[in-house]
Amino acid sequence: HRSIKIAPSILSADFANFGAEIQAIEAQGADWVHVDVMDGHFVPNLTFGPMAVKAFRPHVKTVMDVHLMIAPVDPYIDAYADAGADILTAHVEAGPHIHRTLQAIRGAGMKAGVALNPGTPAEAVAHLLDLTDLICVMTVNPGFGGQKYIDMTDKVRRLRKMIGDREIHIEIDGGMDPTTAPGMAQAGADVLVAGSAVFRGGSVSQPGVYGENMRAI
Ligand code: DX5
Ligand code: ZN
Repeated sequence: HRSIKIAPSILSADFANFGAEIQAIEAQGADWVHVDVMDGHFVPNLTFGPMAVKAFRPHVKTVMDVHLMIAPVDPYIDAYADAGADILTAHVEAGPHIHRTLQAIRGAGMKAGVALNPGTPAEAVAHLLDLTDLICVMTVNPGFGGQKYIDMTDKVRRLRKMIGDREIHIEIDGGMDPTTAPGMAQAGADVLVAGSAVFRGGSVSQPGVYGENMRAI
């Protein structure tokens, strides 16, 4: 899958060494860097906020892909623009006004992504396609790395059809590994987020392992 981008999620990185971890995954072939922001409210886990994301920015030479698992979203959009997010993704389930949220994300100068939990149908984005640069299909219930993949092949196929010739990425997030990734790419995904499958077995002091893991996906 030469045209498939790999976006390692630093949720599975060493939390005491984010700068070095980001440099290591990029040096070993990461296309994007995926940053999972969790608020302990929309999802039952807490990670980092805009100040941390701003500190990651100088280390990211590729694309900083920020996935917000927070509610509400709108009060924080400017903070993530200021932090240097290239793509800012909000969940369709995070509030009643995703349409306005996507407009505000673009208005703040970022690419706008919309994420769908496993229980949310593809049709939830039918009226958002002209406001969206990326659709993130969750293949786990968000909150934690290392969970078991939930098959969303049918949703991805439907989205690819709905998108038509618009330039919208389909990103898959959750449980991507060498056994689950090929089916998603075949169904029409072009960006694969992978956390545990990339960072597993490696460290910054052991160069090469992250790259091997990425190529295996
Ligand atoms: C899930 C996060 C994912 C997750 C992926 O809540 O949005 O990005 O970290 O991790 P793996 O690849 O381990 O499922
Ligand atoms: Zn994510």
